[in-house]
Amino acid sequence: MTHITSRRNFLKVGATLSAATFLGGFSKTILAQEITKASSLMGFNAISASTADNVIVPEGYTARVLLSWGDPLFPNAPAFLDDSSNTSADQALQFGDNADGMQYFDVKDGYGVLAINNEYVNPQHLYQHDQYKAQSAEEVLKAQNAVGLSIVGLQRDGLTGMTFDINSTYNRRITAHTPMIISGPAAAHKDLQTKADPKGMYVLGTQNNCSSGKTPWGTYVTCEENFDDFFGASDEKNITADMKRYGIKSESRYGWEKFDDRFDISKHPNEFNRFGWIVEIDPLNPEHTPIKRTALGRFKHENAALTVAKDGRVVVYMGDDERGEHIYKFITKRAFIEGNTAHNMTLLDEGTLYVGLFEGGDTPNQGHGKWVELTHGKNGLTAENGFESQADIAIYTRKAADHVNATTMDRPEWIAVNPINGKVFCTLTNNSKRGDKFAPNAANPREKNIYGQIIRWEEKGGDHSAETFTWDMYVMAGNPNVYPSHDPRAGSANITKENTFNSPDGIGFDSAGRIWILTDGKYTNTGDFSGQGNNAMLCGDPESGEIRRFLTGPKSCEVTGLTWANNERTMFVNIQHPGEKNDSTFPHTGKTPRSSVIMITKNDGGVIGS
Ligand code: FEO
Ligand code: CA
Ligand code: CA
Repeated sequence: MTHITSRRNFLKVGATLSAATFLGGFSKTILAQEITKASSLMGFNAISASTADNVIVPEGYTARVLLSWGDPLFPNAPAFLDDSSNTSADQALQFGDNADGMQYFDVKDGYGVLAINNEYVNPQHLYQHDQYKAQSAEEVLKAQNAVGLSIVGLQRDGLTGMTFDINSTYNRRITAHTPMIISGPAAAHKDLQTKADPKGMYVLGTQNNCSSGKTPWGTYVTCEENFDDFFGASDEKNITADMKRYGIKSESRYGWEKFDDRFDISKHPNEFNRFGWIVEIDPLNPEHTPIKRTALGRFKHENAALTVAKDGRVVVYMGDDERGEHIYKFITKRAFIEGNTAHNMTLLDEGTLYVGLFEGGDTPNQGHGKWVELTHGKNGLTAENGFESQADIAIYTRKAADHVNATTMDRPEWIAVNPINGKVFCTLTNNSKRGDKFAPNAANPREKNIYGQIIRWEEKGGDHSAETFTWDMYVMAGNPNVYPSHDPRAGSANITKENTFNSPDGIGFDSAGRIWILTDGKYTNTGDFSGQGNNAMLCGDPESGEIRRFLTGPKSCEVTGLTWANNERTMFVNIQHPGEKNDSTFPHTGKTPRSSVIMITKNDGGVIGS
């Protein structure tokens, strides 16, 4: 490996008291994790940054395309047409667009189900024109049928490969029109009632499904993120302060409100409140009606990291991905009972929601924190302060978090729990505006933070139901190709000229404790980002501190989604929006670029990363 550079050695020395004096005010960068020893966890050779229009993995590995946007999911589904002429009805039977978070579920040896979020659409490829907004009701319907989820059956093929089973009875599309149940404290609340659903109990569809989680009882939870992108207002005066808090503007990003009244808040104001939730789906029951679990709060949900506390209660860690938003945790009221699915399927309806307060310690880049309860009647969340009930806190969670002065974070994206020691990691992807609206704070120390960081915390006593924790930084991303080592923008000691990256977004742990880091950042490869290439996936050893680049994506894509099959001998990763700058034809030379699920195997059949 060429990773061990003199810079790192310098920084390691720099962590001592005398060197910290030398580094003066910049010493904070060196206190994030350093390389302490050679990794015994990672057995592959790192690959270089790339600007090529393809997927590259290390020597000894193979990456193949499993499914792409528009692929037929049923025997009667029409083929994908490269000229964007597929109809909305075609799209309802095809793989959705912009594959994002996903989870694999074992059915039996050699057979499983992959549930995949289809976050949003790429209008420049979806429609036969270059305008971003839909221009007709048919185009709106095509987009509505391209978002949501795709659930597919996979059959093992060879030692560790998997192929899509088009005849599988598990194959399912969930779209912006799929009926769903609303449950938990906000169900039936007046602010969720609409003309079509006067009781506030049912809703059609799920959108902007970013990432996801897997429950201990084997269901899928999908997270509604930038739901405001689909709503607009024919009369701007109808946009309330509560709506603005969730980002709504008079003209939506995708133009749905022009052709579908449901998405015009001037006509149906409460429809907006029926999105921004975590939705639970049983991927192994194609008849299952998805359930919006309102106890988990309403915000721009990124993913959900579920774990079981010492007393058996289930803990859900969640991020709200917008500049200055917060990190949350939910603890179920009752304990998980192995094998009792009927009981377990009620757990996410009752419990306690908390928001994170991260405070600094005696030295930079570490500290302590507490979880502040967002329960009606506590911490000022009372009727006098505008919160009539727990339902109000569930629907207007951001407002409740602001009320208790929760820490403003640099865009919390994925959260993952290290299975080896229970430490919880969260990507804070970037925040170029830090220092404008929100002052830097201990956990978000860099102004104009263009590179991002991964924070981690340990709950008191190693118990996920604890109300206090200590935290430090696993990595401060940065670019030592551009900035000298004493500059915070060079990143922490485990960032080198070789592994440099920006905007960590997806993260996940395999069972050996390797951390996988997927990026959704700037891919200009110039200026502040020179030497970083296209978005990528890196692998880290959180014990040794070392990070190596494992996969590079095609041009102008995001690398996202992460799950495994066959005892981690098969890995799935998503290439989202290749060619969003019209510079890619991935996955087929000369054709329309298509978001795709990638399957990675090791040529010797071994565990990925080993
Ligand atoms: Fe859909 Fe915050 O990423
Ligand atoms: Ca993301
Ligand atoms: Ca992102």
